[in-house]
Amino acid sequence: VRTSGPVLDRYASAVLALIRKRYLEADRSPPRAANVGRPREQRELAKVTTVHGVRIPIEDEDWPDRTLAEKAIHLLFRSPFYPLQDEAARWDGGDDAVRALRDELGARAIPAMNVTWPDLTSDAAQSDLAFAGLAALHLARLNDDDAARDPDGARFVVDVRWLGDYEVRDGFERLGAAAWFDETRRLVRVSWCHGARDVRVRDASWEHVKYAWRASVFVAITVTDHLWGLHLRTGNEMVTALREQLSPEHPIRLLLKPFTYRTISVAHRAANTLVVERGLPHRGFSLTYDAFKRLLVHGSPLARLETFPDLLAARGVADLADFPWGDDGRALWAIIHRYVGANVGLHYPDDAALAADVELQSLWRALDPIRSAKTSARLVHRSELVDLAASFVFYVTGLHEHVGSLCEYLLDPRSMGGRVRAGLDLCDVQGSVIQMLLMAGTSLRQPALLEDYSHLLPRSHTSEARTILDTLQADLRALVLEIARRNALRRHPFRSFDPTVLEVSVSL
Ligand SMILES: [Fe+2]
Repeated sequence: VRTSGPVLDRYASAVLALIRKRYLEADRSPPRAANVGRPREQRELAKVTTVHGVRIPIEDEDWPDRTLAEKAIHLLFRSPFYPLQDEAARWDGGDDAVRALRDELGARAIPAMNVTWPDLTSDAAQSDLAFAGLAALHLARLNDDDAARDPDGARFVVDVRWLGDYEVRDGFERLGAAAWFDETRRLVRVSWCHGARDVRVRDASWEHVKYAWRASVFVAITVTDHLWGLHLRTGNEMVTALREQLSPEHPIRLLLKPFTYRTISVAHRAANTLVVERGLPHRGFSLTYDAFKRLLVHGSPLARLETFPDLLAARGVADLADFPWGDDGRALWAIIHRYVGANVGLHYPDDAALAADVELQSLWRALDPIRSAKTSARLVHRSELVDLAASFVFYVTGLHEHVGSLCEYLLDPRSMGGRVRAGLDLCDVQGSVIQMLLMAGTSLRQPALLEDYSHLLPRSHTSEARTILDTLQADLRALVLEIARRNALRRHPFRSFDPTVLEVSVSL
């Protein structure tokens, strides 16, 4: 147990000191909507290639010169002077851990929580996590055949068993698990990769396999959906294509400008600090670097721009009622879709107008790698453009909040962790610290969705565009109230799609 050892080791202390320095720099003038400038120029951007072959621009019209602390963080995060050394120290208990983390990190380094989870370990909490929490992104309904055959009457599953194929370092159990829920959404079984068996409620390993499932959900979503899907694929490809293919005053470039703010810089930073060997995720998660590298490209649904209704339909949960993730997500999606649709309609009176826009056709081709497989090779229908742009806006606002704002899941090591040790139903000291540093490093304030972006309106149809923007803001404010009403009636509140907490781009 921890009783004598320090909570922060040498590496963690150094990273925290630099993160604090970044806060001092950034908190002096946190970026606001007014800092999101009009697009500047259209040209091919200089790029670097990551270990995965992803081409990331190295110039960002939204990013001033990098400060010393930013540059130092790049180097320190992966510094060979701090070798990766797994420490097995355990917490005295969950309450001790939360207290110690709060003390050692300090209030500023602990991001705000959207909701609080009084307990994430009970069977009922697993259900909330799957229908109204982080795991909902991967919730699926069983098909009729599987449901009819299921020995426990399972009807829903959050299945991240594929993580079991990825090797872990010595001292850790393999990740990978599936949690199965019946028609009443009760947890009936956990399929556990490391133990290679199904575990049910009276089994001695029950608490352990639930933790292993939560840890697997956290790692899968953070690595494949967040880091790869949102940042390195959809975010990076979209911002690059917009800036290379569309002239600065093009209406679609202007429309999407706020939603690409600083996206290049953060993809670049992620490539330098999070994807590399000895980066924070490699250190904090239990995977070998080779496994981590392979896992990144595993095949997130967010690596392509799909509409939210399609994401739900692909999992058979499009018509599921009393489903906070689906209900709030659809409401936010409808607002965004209407906003994008109105803007596209303003500048393109009919489908024929699309064919005449050479720049837009080039953009469409440049987006090949991230366009939904359902779209056609040539942009013909306005509805396809609306779906694509609305998906992008939804990804970088709502979905990014959902996968990225995880303090409520990570501060208490009983809830989630990036590593699993035999006989331990909570994260160890080192893992807890690193995952909180990961959160701390991304808790800088960014421009909010509910701010005023009217300085980015197009120079043609300006007054109509202003009305559309006003409607968006009014719709979003109405959704804030609606979600508060819904949450008052829910067993567990859900706020990933609450416009109050949404930022405008994947800038962190
Ligand atoms: Fe992020």
